[in-house]
Amino acid sequence: MVKRGAFIVFEGLDRSGKSTQVARLVESLNQSGEKAVGCRFPDRTTTTGKMIDSYLAQKSELDDHAIHLLFSANRWERSQAILADLEAGTTVVCDRYAFSGIAFSAVKGLSYTWCQSPDIGLPLPDLVLFLELAPAAAALRGGFGNERYETSEVQIAVKDMFERIGSDVGSERWKVLDAGRDVDAVEKDVRGRVEELLKKVEGPVGKLWA
Ligand code: TMP
Ligand code: MG
Repeated sequence: MVKRGAFIVFEGLDRSGKSTQVARLVESLNQSGEKAVGCRFPDRTTTTGKMIDSYLAQKSELDDHAIHLLFSANRWERSQAILADLEAGTTVVCDRYAFSGIAFSAVKGLSYTWCQSPDIGLPLPDLVLFLELAPAAAALRGGFGNERYETSEVQIAVKDMFERIGSDVGSERWKVLDAGRDVDAVEKDVRGRVEELLKKVEGPVGKLWA
């Protein structure tokens, strides 16, 4: 039987460097002979992803509950493919996941437990790397874009919500990394933690919030 791949998720505020680190990790794993693929949520290419993209671009309005469920559906659409990759021995490195789902919806006033429910049973990440950056430092990395949620008010509230989520996930699985360092230093830290994880990944993929 092939050893299964690891499911690794990056979370963090906008401009904390998630996309860069996902790309670098996938490349360095592949170079060292470990099969790895990247993915990101929202996946804006699917039908639900196009509705989400239009909402984020502020071209359409949706009820807060409805958009929350669309983000969750967008993950469920991809979940079988993630499991298939993991079972085939490929490590999956994902840019945002269900934790962003709770953080951004709960700060709008939706119940935390209600926000968790539609994601119950999704593939459970083996490791969540939270790239921690003070909202003020994130703002210095470049102006905000025009998408919904790209305001310092939202980012500050979301950061606090991520702290609560991290403590619910538990420090075994949820690791906070200082994203204020230069990109290479963060990459080295990431690589070290992933190497530790790859040594101990075994058994079936778990289920989120179950
Ligand atoms: P992106 O900038 O990484 O493409 O993410 C788009 C925005 O969507 C970002 O502000 C976070 C937000 N988001 C949610 O509100 N719920 C979710 O489930 C996910 C994955 C992202
Ligand atoms: Mg963004």
